[in-house]
Amino acid sequence: MDGNKVDPPVTIHLKGSCDQTRETKFPVYRLLDRYHGSHFWSENAVNYEKLYNDMLPYVLRAIGNRTVESKEGPFVVCDYGAGDGGTSMKLMTEIISAVRIKYGREKTLVIVYEDYSWNDFKSLFCLTQGLFEDQETFLPQDKNVFLLASGTNFYKPCLPPNYVDLAVSCIAMHWLSKRPCNLELDILGQGDKVSYEELDAYKRQAAEDWETILINRATELKIGT
Ligand SMILES: C[S@@+](CC[C@H](N)C(=O)[O-])C[C@H]1O[C@@H](n2cnc3c(N)ncnc32)[C@H](O)[C@@H]1O
Repeated sequence: MDGNKVDPPVTIHLKGSCDQTRETKFPVYRLLDRYHGSHFWSENAVNYEKLYNDMLPYVLRAIGNRTVESKEGPFVVCDYGAGDGGTSMKLMTEIISAVRIKYGREKTLVIVYEDYSWNDFKSLFCLTQGLFEDQETFLPQDKNVFLLASGTNFYKPCLPPNYVDLAVSCIAMHWLSKRPCNLELDILGQGDKVSYEELDAYKRQAAEDWETILINRATELKIGT
């Protein structure tokens, strides 16, 4: 998407001190400011329905059988790398229904949306509460569903240990934690011409990153049956 480009270090105006600025430590991927609060991400996302539809049977099966067993406390779902939450709304509706079937109407549900701190959380909360004129309401009128956000980084701990019943993520965890080397050629246009050394560096980075993700999620997930 054209709004999602590499920017130079971002200048952040700090609350209560408009003449004072700080720069983030690293260059970051972020939505251009003019798109914040406009649900730009999900409005422009394409082909995501197929991915979410493919994922749905696995998620519903996990809730329906004993893979996910929420004995006490709320049933906690976390969407890692959620973006503005617009693309996962149908999935969340289905998850809520499946939890209701299994645990009844009184079971408290917590849905945590995790993404980088500079994510468009304003759109996320407007979308999930059905506040845009051009959208249908997502959440059923269910007093036992609570939405929270974790503005962190999924290469780090995002939630307390032993907290999450169900972790989902779509089109996010292929984003590496860092660039292992610069590429000679543009990978999108000329990916087949990437050198073995470059490819190997990216493969090793991806393997290391995946391990970091799994170690952090293993701590956050509740111990299963
Ligand atoms: C391609 S978008 C997908 C958004 C949404 N899951 C969807 O299916 O439309 C990838 C998202 O992952 C987030 N992301 C990438 N790396 C991340 C990280 N290390 N920690 C948290 N979020 C990350 C990005 O900020 C972005 O919102």
